Amino acid sequence: MNTETQKKIAAEKATEKIRAGMVVGLGTGSTVYYALLKLGAMVRDGLKIVGIPTSVSTEKVATEQGIPLSTLAVYPTIDVTIDGADEVDAHRNLIKGGGAALVREKIIANASKRLLIVVDESKVSRVLGTSFPLPVEIVQFGWEATQKALNRVCGQSLCEAKLRGGIQHPLITDNGNYILDCHFDGIAEPEQVELQLNNIPGVVENGIFVNRADTVIIGTPSGIQYMGAH
Ligand code: 5RP
Repeated sequence: MNTETQKKIAAEKATEKIRAGMVVGLGTGSTVYYALLKLGAMVRDGLKIVGIPTSVSTEKVATEQGIPLSTLAVYPTIDVTIDGADEVDAHRNLIKGGGAALVREKIIANASKRLLIVVDESKVSRVLGTSFPLPVEIVQFGWEATQKALNRVCGQSLCEAKLRGGIQHPLITDNGNYILDCHFDGIAEPEQVELQLNNIPGVVENGIFVNRADTVIIGTPSGIQYMGAH
């Protein structure tokens, strides 16, 4: 089973948890895309749900699929969110933000009764920060100073913060900010690093998600595997 098929089976498995009347958080990325297609088909078959998207790109796909959308202002509590991840460790801690949607994803995760993470098996990692740089969303003002502060805060461990897209064409997030991709030598204490980075002026949010995922659904060449309750 190739990676694309692994993504698809994980995402479609997650949609089996969606019931009529639920408010569903809609994550971002190429794995969640398959969940959006499946949810769209379920809606066209009569399933009544309301989706709350984590990005402009997801809003677009969900709208094309005919999934009714709303906001956290109307529904402050979300029943289930389906989202992807860039790296997952054995404790279900995550690195997210490869798709630059980490701020809205963390807000939606925080408002969710249940967070289902869907990944292919390449995302599973022994130590976070060893296979994917940590995305950190920062405001544009004074970004060079924020970059220096980020490099400093990492102390002994290797951390090199690079502006996503480069200085000529920096990526601008849905919130009008920049992303610094921080190359670590492994993040041994994700809970501490998550708090530490968010304490730097200029940092809006970082892509470490600790103790937030209830279930990780992993598509593997031999089928579905789970971490956490299912
Ligand atoms: C977006 C994310 C995505 O969920 C993450 O990047 C995984 O994406 P994909 O399923 O395309 O690998 O965090 O900000």
